[in-house]
Amino acid sequence: MTGKEMRDMSFPTNFLWGGATAANQYEGGWKEGGRGIAVHDLMTDGTKDEPRRIYCRNDAGDEVTILQGECIPFGYQGFLKEGYYYPSHNGTDFYHHYKEDIALMAEMGFKVYRLSVSWTRIFPNGDDLVPNEEGLGFYDRVIDELKKYGIEPLVTILHFDMPLHLANVYGGWADRRLIDFYLRFARTLFERWKDKVTYWITVNEINVLGGYWTLGLASNHRKNQANSNQGETPVEDAGIKLQSIHHLLVASAMANRMAREINPDFMLGTMCALSGIYPATCHPDDVFGAYEFRRKALMFSDVTMRGYYPNYAASIFDQYHFKLRREPGDDELLRDNPSDYLAFSYYRTTAFDRNSPNTTTTGGQQAGPNPYLEKTPWGWPIDARGLRLVLNELYDRYQKPLFIVENGMGNVDIVEEDGSIHDDYRIAYLRDHIMEMKKAVEIDRVPVLGYTTWGCVDLVSAGTGEMKKRYGFVYVDLDDKGNGSFKRMKKDSFFWYQKVIGSNGENLG
Ligand code: BG6
Repeated sequence: MTGKEMRDMSFPTNFLWGGATAANQYEGGWKEGGRGIAVHDLMTDGTKDEPRRIYCRNDAGDEVTILQGECIPFGYQGFLKEGYYYPSHNGTDFYHHYKEDIALMAEMGFKVYRLSVSWTRIFPNGDDLVPNEEGLGFYDRVIDELKKYGIEPLVTILHFDMPLHLANVYGGWADRRLIDFYLRFARTLFERWKDKVTYWITVNEINVLGGYWTLGLASNHRKNQANSNQGETPVEDAGIKLQSIHHLLVASAMANRMAREINPDFMLGTMCALSGIYPATCHPDDVFGAYEFRRKALMFSDVTMRGYYPNYAASIFDQYHFKLRREPGDDELLRDNPSDYLAFSYYRTTAFDRNSPNTTTTGGQQAGPNPYLEKTPWGWPIDARGLRLVLNELYDRYQKPLFIVENGMGNVDIVEEDGSIHDDYRIAYLRDHIMEMKKAVEIDRVPVLGYTTWGCVDLVSAGTGEMKKRYGFVYVDLDDKGNGSFKRMKKDSFFWYQKVIGSNGENLG
């Protein structure tokens, strides 16, 4: 390719630049407008080293504690324990600041804004027959506000959101009846916004969902603080999780079918966490190990994009001594209703080392450290080149458009005396990633629909429950324990991203 040819190419003029958030971390207003309680409302704050917790008790009053991602012991329910801080109750209060926040997004030139709908704001228990009109009204106003500025809403139906009632009464997604409740929720949104929303994501990061928190699962393991095994997935729990995700995959395919009947022009995606994996060395066992490890993530996008479980899924299930239960018709549903595009999150890459393989994960994330990469203060390896690799990998595999719906760097921001915030580390991270995306689009010809950075306005970290792990272009005055005014302030990256969008990705500063 000549230099001139390269200069003539650029992002398509309709490329969707913007940002992304999720209700559970951003919205707040947890008891307003008739909203019901979700499991994440019971999750305490944590830190990089101290995991978030859920306090649980049974009818006899015995208490145990589970960590984020774990299943609740059978017979127990989560509860709010006095004296603890629960960051999702207020999030960063989009509920009361949506007009201001959307005006800031518009000022940056956003073409798209990815938001999620809180399930319990629409169906407070999850299994209600009639939706909560007040909750729908809130999102009507949000969507109309976006439209006022010409910003395309990208709606995630389910983002780490589990109605407490569905978890406690049905045991969450392990129970197939949740498919019907989810479809009632999805139908309500599709019908309500059929003329206003084009881009949808049925489920966020389907490959990494787990435990009580996102799937509402109970296990027969009795756990307490002393014997809690952070980060590990007991084999039995992995089985319940994989079966539950199967129910979600079926629900997502049924939602695609339903949506296409409501509006054939909808663009439907399912979202996977697909940060990349490398072999730690060129030793064949590292190379094949990394390949196998990657399949634990790709298995799920294979189902949503190709419409069937890949051949190797059986060997992954064998590792967890798990036998998938399918109902008659499941295979046809998956086959006939794949997604239109693949949405994915990309933050980092990790490396698979045959000498210390991570054998407990079921979602194909976090294989192991990579000595060649620098890390964020939260230890996430920074690898912009990996994004180009993943974009090529996914397009080679599926031949369908891709949408990068999460990317960004969590970092501590300092507010100077004059109110300015010099987040050059964030600008550097995003610039490098956009450059690699640009190469994938312009040189490799990978079709990418858009790019939404994570947490465009600061929000609570899902992983740690901290406020100080910030991703935004807009700072929100709030600390880790909920003190602050919720005042919004523009960071240096705000003005930088404005230039990036204004030049359609040509001026990266
Ligand atoms: C993704 C999630 O996994 O990563 C988001 O979809 C999350 O909800 C994001 O916030 C970043 O992770 P964290 O732990 O830094 O908030």
